[in-house]
Amino acid sequence: MWRNRDLVDLTEFTRRDFEALFKQADVFLEAGLAPTKMLEGKIMAAAFFEPSTRTRLSFESAMHRLGGSVLGFSSAEGTSVEKGESTEDTIRMLDNYSDVIVVRHREDGVMRRLAQLAKKPLINAGEGQSRHPTQALIDIYTVLKEKGMVEGLNYGVMGDVKHARAAKDFIRGLSLFGVKEVNLVTPKELMPEEAFVKEMNNKGVRLNHYERIEDLISMLDILYVVRLQVERFSDRSEAEMLKGSYSITLKTLERANRGLRILHPLPRVWELSGEVDGTPYAAYFKQVYYSIPVRMAVLSLILTDVEMIREGLI
Ligand code: NCD
Repeated sequence: MWRNRDLVDLTEFTRRDFEALFKQADVFLEAGLAPTKMLEGKIMAAAFFEPSTRTRLSFESAMHRLGGSVLGFSSAEGTSVEKGESTEDTIRMLDNYSDVIVVRHREDGVMRRLAQLAKKPLINAGEGQSRHPTQALIDIYTVLKEKGMVEGLNYGVMGDVKHARAAKDFIRGLSLFGVKEVNLVTPKELMPEEAFVKEMNNKGVRLNHYERIEDLISMLDILYVVRLQVERFSDRSEAEMLKGSYSITLKTLERANRGLRILHPLPRVWELSGEVDGTPYAAYFKQVYYSIPVRMAVLSLILTDVEMIREGLI
C-alpha cells in the first residue's frame, strides 16, 4: 500500500506494491494520459538542489494532469540556501506549503533524514550516486510494456555503474522482481562499489562483469545504458580519460538479438549514438513517455485512497 508513504528507498517496497502501482499507471495510460481532477486542491513542492530536466518536468506534468498544482525551485540559486539556510530548514518550510515534497539532492543518505523531518510524504527524485527510485519504476514499467515480463530476461547494464544512481536502482528493482543475474558492461574503473555488489549478492543477484559489449550483445534482451557521470568524479582528469570508453552504435548492434531493447534514463552524451534512434531497438523515448503515467500513479497512490477503492477495501 502506498497511501501517505515516503518513497525514499525502493527496497522498502515489495513486488506487490510495484504491481499495484503499475496497474494504476495502466489506467492513466489507457486513458491517453487525459487530465483528471483526482488531486484537485493538492500541492506538490519540488525541491531540486541538483540539476534536472526530465525528472522535475515530468513530475510537474504528472501533477498538472492530476488536477493538482506545483511550486518549488529547480536549483539552490535564488533560494535562501544562498543565504546559508540548511537543506533541513528548506524542507521544513515546504512541509507547511504543500501536501507532498519531491526532492533531488547530491548527498547520499540525505533523503531518509529529510523524510523523518517532514510530516508530508517525501519522494526521492535522485539522491547522490545511490538512489533514484521513481526512475527505476519507470524503467521496469518500460521493460514490462516492451517484453511482457521482467523475470526470465537477459539483462546488460552498460556504463558508469559506479556513479549512476539510475543504474543501481534499476538493478535493485530487478532484484525485487526475482531477477537472479545482471551483466555489467563497463571499464573496470566504473564498476560499482563493493557494498553495492554485496547488497545485490545478498538479494540473490549475481553481477557478472564484461569489458566489451561485443562479447554479450547477441544474448541480451535488455541493455540499460547510462552516461559517464562526469560531475561525480573528484578527479576530473580521470573522467576525461574514460570519455568514449564505451558506446552503442549501429555497428555494435549488428549481432544483437532482434528482440533487444535499449533503455537509457537520459540525458545521453556520447555513449549512445543518434543513429540507433530510428531502430526497433530504441526504447528510450518510450521510457520518457511512460514516465508520466508512472509518476501520475506514484502521486495519486500516495495522496489519495485510489488503491484501496480499487481493491474494494473502502
Ligand atoms: C538521471 C539522473 O539524474 O540520475 N537522469 C534522470 O533522472 N533521468 C541519469 C543521469 O543523469 O545520467
